[in-house]
Amino acid sequence: MILTERATEILVDNDMGGYTVPTKGMYPFQWNWDSAFVALGFATFDMNRAWQEIETLFDGQWSDGFLPHIVFRKDEPSYFPGPTVWQCPHDIPTSGITQPPVAATIVRSLYKSQPTPEQLERLKAIFPKLLAWHRWFYTCRDPLDKGLVLCVHPWETGRDNSPEWDAPASAVDTSNVGEYQRKDLGHADSSMRPLKIDYDRFVALVQYGRSTGWDHKRIGQESPFRVYDVGMSLIFLRANRDLKRLARIIGDQEAASEISAWIEKSETGINYLWDNNVGAFCSRDIITGEFSGAITSTSFLSFYAHVGSDKQSKILLDHLARIDGRAKFLLPSLDPEHAEFNDLRYWRGPVWAVVNFMVAAGLREAGLDEWSEKIRTDTQRLIAETGFFEAFSPMTGEGTGGDDFSWTAAMWLDWAGNETNQGTLL
Ligand code: GLC
Repeated sequence: MILTERATEILVDNDMGGYTVPTKGMYPFQWNWDSAFVALGFATFDMNRAWQEIETLFDGQWSDGFLPHIVFRKDEPSYFPGPTVWQCPHDIPTSGITQPPVAATIVRSLYKSQPTPEQLERLKAIFPKLLAWHRWFYTCRDPLDKGLVLCVHPWETGRDNSPEWDAPASAVDTSNVGEYQRKDLGHADSSMRPLKIDYDRFVALVQYGRSTGWDHKRIGQESPFRVYDVGMSLIFLRANRDLKRLARIIGDQEAASEISAWIEKSETGINYLWDNNVGAFCSRDIITGEFSGAITSTSFLSFYAHVGSDKQSKILLDHLARIDGRAKFLLPSLDPEHAEFNDLRYWRGPVWAVVNFMVAAGLREAGLDEWSEKIRTDTQRLIAETGFFEAFSPMTGEGTGGDDFSWTAAMWLDWAGNETNQGTLL
C-alpha cells in the first residue's frame, strides 16, 4: 500500500467521530496541538473534517479563554491521569493545563488553501475563540510582561521530559504524591518513556493545580514550576502573526491592532531567552533566572517566528550544521552533544515530525531552502523506512513510542511525503 493511502487510513482509523486521538491505547482522547496538526492532514482529503477537528478542540475551551491540553469527553481506563484526577470545573471534562498554541497558524493555513465563503464563515466563528485563548496567555502566563509564554507544567510545553525541565522540576515537592499507576508503560517500551522521577513531578504538579481549584492566575504566579519555554514562546509569536492576518481577513481592525502590540512586545522580549553561553534561544526558569543551557529542536523555531538578529541566526545555523554532522537524521529533539542526550528517550533525543515541519517552514521562509529540504527529506526517509511512529531515533531511524500516530501521518500528507509541496504554512 502506498504511504499516502496508509497515512489517510491512520487518520480515518483514529477519528473518533469529529475528533482524532493521537494514537489508540496510549493517548485515547483529543490533544490540543496534535489536533491542530492533524487538521492539516485531513485538509488534504476532507476540508470539512479538517475544520471540524479545530472546532471540536474548542469545545473544551473554558469561559476565561483557556484551551486545555486534553479534552477527555469520557474516561478511559487505558490512560493516567484521567478526568477524575484532574477534576476540572468545565462541563466537558478537560485537563487544567494548556499546550503549544499552534492552532491560529493552522487555521490560517486551512483558510488560505480554500478561501471560499463557507470557510470564511467558519473562520469568523473560530476567530474570537482563538483571540480569547491568546489573550488568556497575556493575562495568566506572562508575569514578566515580555510577550513570552510561561509554562507551569512540563506537559504544557509538549516536550514532556526534555532535560530543560530537570533543574526547574527538581524544586517540585513529590513527597505527598502517593501511589498511582502509570498506564503509558503498558503501551510503549520503558526505555522510550519518561522516568519515574519525571512522572512523580508531573503528578505532583497536577495535584498542586487541582489544590488551587485550577485558578490559572494564581498558578501563574505561585506554581513551584515556572519556566518561560522557548518552544511555546516562538510558536506563540508565529501564531500571533497568523492571527493578525486572520483579523485583517475578517475585517477586525481593533483585534489586529491589539495583536500588533503583542507582536512588538515579543520581538523585543525574546532576547530574554537568548543564552549567550551556548549561543541559542533556550528556555529559562523564572524562579531562579537560570537558563536551561540546552539547545533543543525548538531553539531553531526562531526562523519560524521571524526573530533573531543576523548574528544570532548565523550562530544557530552553525549549531544546525554541527548537529547535522552528528546525527543521521535531522532534527534531534536535543543537541547530540548534550550530556543528557538519549536517542530513544522521548524528548531527550528522538526526532518529531511536527517540530521538523515548523522548523523547515521557518528555514524556507528565511531563504534557507537547502536546510529546509534536508529536514523534509530526512523526515520522509524516517517515515518511509520505519513507519508512522510517534518519534524516531536520529541515529538509527528506529521508530520510538507509539505506532500509527495521527500527527506523523498528517505531516506525511501535508508535507514530508510530498515532493513538490513545501507545506501549507507557506
Ligand atoms: C506526549 C507528547 C505531547 C503530545 C502528546 C500526545 O505527551 O509529549 O507533545 O501532544 O503526547 O501525542
